[in-house]
Amino acid sequence: MDHKKNKLLRQYTRKILKFYKDPTVIEFGSIRALERGSTFQIASTLNGKGKLYSFEKEIKHINYAKKICAAYLKNIIFVKGDCKKKFKDLAYKGLIKKVNLAFLDTTNDPKEALAEFKLVQPFITDPGFVLLHDVISGDTAKHIKPIIKSSYFWDLKTYPSIAGTMVIKRIK
Ligand SMILES: C[S@@+](CC[C@H](N)C(=O)[O-])C[C@H]1O[C@@H](n2cnc3c(N)ncnc32)[C@H](O)[C@@H]1O
Repeated sequence: MDHKKNKLLRQYTRKILKFYKDPTVIEFGSIRALERGSTFQIASTLNGKGKLYSFEKEIKHINYAKKICAAYLKNIIFVKGDCKKKFKDLAYKGLIKKVNLAFLDTTNDPKEALAEFKLVQPFITDPGFVLLHDVISGDTAKHIKPIIKSSYFWDLKTYPSIAGTMVIKRIK
């Protein structure tokens, strides 16, 4: 288990709770084994406040997450299927209007990571954060960093990457 990543998730969930009493958090990629992964870290830190939408294509992984997060299920909405398609569906229906914190953790594929970031970015509030896992170096970072750095809306500079996770703050 990645303790640094879990600590980071708790830290940013707490940050968001300072700004919003009823926050909307999304994650792309739920817990994939019987361990206290991201879904548990976020949901237990929210501890009854706001909502966590957890998008996951494998039903087996959703079932693991449900077991591990049994005490927090009231605040978690598991959405089974492809995260981009399902997120678009919920946004189109007006069920997700804004996102205060997004944790994107499906794949290291640069094209997919960029597509996920592009999809969620108009929904992120100011202040708000996107945590992109496993993309601080290599091809994915090469694709994503220049886009974020040149954007007026995002601050990457003052949010250093931790535990393999790129921390991006919405600033406008
Ligand atoms: C690295 S694991 C997630 C780990 C989890 N976030 C944690 O920290 O405990 C990646 C997960 O993303 C899921 N996944 C991969 N591509 C996906 C997609 N396009 N839509 C939804 N889920 C996807 C996989 O099934 C897997 O469960």
